[in-house]
This record gives sequence, structure tokens and C-alpha cells, in this order.
Amino acid sequence: MNKALLLVDDEPCVLKSLCRALSTAEYNLFTAESAAEALEIVKQHDIGVVISDMKMPEMDGIAFLEAVAKISADTVRILLTAYGSHESAIAAINRSHIFGYLTKPWTAENLQATLAKAFRHANLIRENKRLQELTNRQNEQLRFINENLEKLVQERTTQLEEAVKEGIEMLALAAEAKDDITGEHIYRISNLTRDICLALGMDETEVEQIAFFSIIHDIGKVHIPDSILKKPGPLTDEEWAIMQDHTRAGEKILGRKPFYRTARLIARSHHEKWDGSGYPDGLRGETIPLAARIVAVADVFDSLTSARPYKKPWPEAEALSYMESLKGIHFDPRVLEVFLALDKSTSANIP
Ligand SMILES: [Fe+2]
Repeated sequence: MNKALLLVDDEPCVLKSLCRALSTAEYNLFTAESAAEALEIVKQHDIGVVISDMKMPEMDGIAFLEAVAKISADTVRILLTAYGSHESAIAAINRSHIFGYLTKPWTAENLQATLAKAFRHANLIRENKRLQELTNRQNEQLRFINENLEKLVQERTTQLEEAVKEGIEMLALAAEAKDDITGEHIYRISNLTRDICLALGMDETEVEQIAFFSIIHDIGKVHIPDSILKKPGPLTDEEWAIMQDHTRAGEKILGRKPFYRTARLIARSHHEKWDGSGYPDGLRGETIPLAARIVAVADVFDSLTSARPYKKPWPEAEALSYMESLKGIHFDPRVLEVFLALDKSTSANIP
């Protein structure tokens, strides 16, 4: 609670009289006989209220109180005027935003009442300022917490995404290893799929999703017994049915979470054919999910041009010519055309 009261008058007897009228216990009193001396006090102390005489030799009360406001805007200013001159004082008060005035001679009651009001105002200003500063500090702390929280959430999200991605890559590599295919196959398929999606003008999020999930298109092969998967000779009808079931098995492994929806579509439908002769559902044309139609092209091309334990790699031109012959039969004509126009050399980059 501020109790600092500064009394300014060039006449020592007026100052003494004011002091006598005030309880020193109630106020922390400062006195000055000149404006210059008073301004020094204002600079050095947090003065709650200042009462200044109007007529002083160096500087009149109005000019002095304006100077006080420049040094300490929170100091409540009161002008002491001689009886009969208060009208000009009021005009000055309005002009200079002075809190109030006292006339000489004053009564003790009037002086006390004016000061009580002035100090209430002075302390209200300080309390408002304190609360404002507190709010600003808290806002600053909140801003800091928010910024760090966002950063922390972002870091954790990135870590989670990387963990999920790594988990899916491990699954894909496990499935490929079971099939005796090197891990490079999944990355080549992913690159080819991305290039086809981009060439089709798909949006970036969709492109990345399809390219990423293409690596687990054959995850269902973990369900196929090695005796069938690695059988050197032709499969019996029953074995072929089991082999084909890797599509349904893959969809099942990928659960029901919305996150894996595209992955499930690819796993189930990447062996469907445009003319309806594929498996497992015999879907035709655009009823085959687009992601699966794209992965089908990438998968067949990479399988043809890769070495396998049972075959040598096809030359690229031969593979492309073979695939072109299956346009509209095995492959979506639009997807195949986009694929044939691609520069395949960039898709061979392995991470
Ligand atoms: Fe497959």
C-alpha cells in the first residue's frame, strides 16, 4: 500500500501547517520548498500523491505537476490554490489531467477526504499495474509452455511416425525374406509407385501413403507355407489356391484401423486384373482400388526385371513390351500409359 505523500510549497509555514494537519503515522511524508527539489524526490521515490502550491517562483504548480507526470505517470497530482483563483485552476486541471485541487485555507476534513480519495486512486493504479504485469508474465509463461508443448508434441509425433514406418518396413522385409527376395524389391516398388502416382497428378499426401504402403502389398505371404512359396515346380490347383490367398491374408494381418485402409486395399487387390480375370475377387476396371492398380504395375515390372532363384531378369525393353501387350487386359490403360512414359532409372534409387 503506497503512503508516500509529497508536499510542495515555497512558503515553509504552509508546509508546516499542512504537516500539522496530517498524521505522520498515516502517511510517509516528504516536503520540498521548490519545484526542482520536489522533482528530485519524485525521481528517487515512488510518490503516491503530490500536493503542490500553484504559485511558486521558479515554476508554477501546473507546470510542476506536468513535469511530475512525465517522471511518474502513476503519481496522483493535487493542486493547492488560493481562495478565489480556483476557476483558473480548474481549467488547468482539466487541461493537465490533474486529479483535484485544494483551496487555501483548507479544512482538516477537506484535506483528509481529498487525500483519502487520492491515495485510493494511487493504490488502484498500482494494483491495476501489478495485475497487468502479472497477467503479462503469466501470458508470457503460457506462450513459452505452449511453444515448447507444440515442439514436444511435434517431436513425439515424428518419433511415433518413424517407429510406425520402421515397424512396417520390418514387416515388409520379413515377408520378402520368406519369399527369398532381397529387401531392395520393396523399395523399388515404393519408388515406382510414387513416380506413377505423381505422374497421375495425385496429391502429395495420397502419393506418400500409397508409395509407403506399397511395400507391404505381399505381407500375406507370411501365411503361405514354404513348401508352396518355394516350390521349384508348378503348383497344384490346391497349392495355387493357397498361394492366391496371400491377398486375403495380407488384408487380415493389417487389421481394421483406418490408418491401414489403403494398405489393406493394396494387399487384397494388387493381383486383380483390369479385365476381371484376377484374384481374389475378380474385380474389373475401376472397381479395383486405384492404389492396387498402380501397385500391380510396379510389382509386375519389378518382378519381371529382377533376378529370382528360378529365373533371370528380363531386359527392361522386353518387360515393357510384354506389359504393354497386357494394357486393358491385366493393367489399367491410363496407369500403364503413365508408367510407360516414366524415366525408370530414377525409381531404382534405394534408400
Ligand atoms: Fe502378391
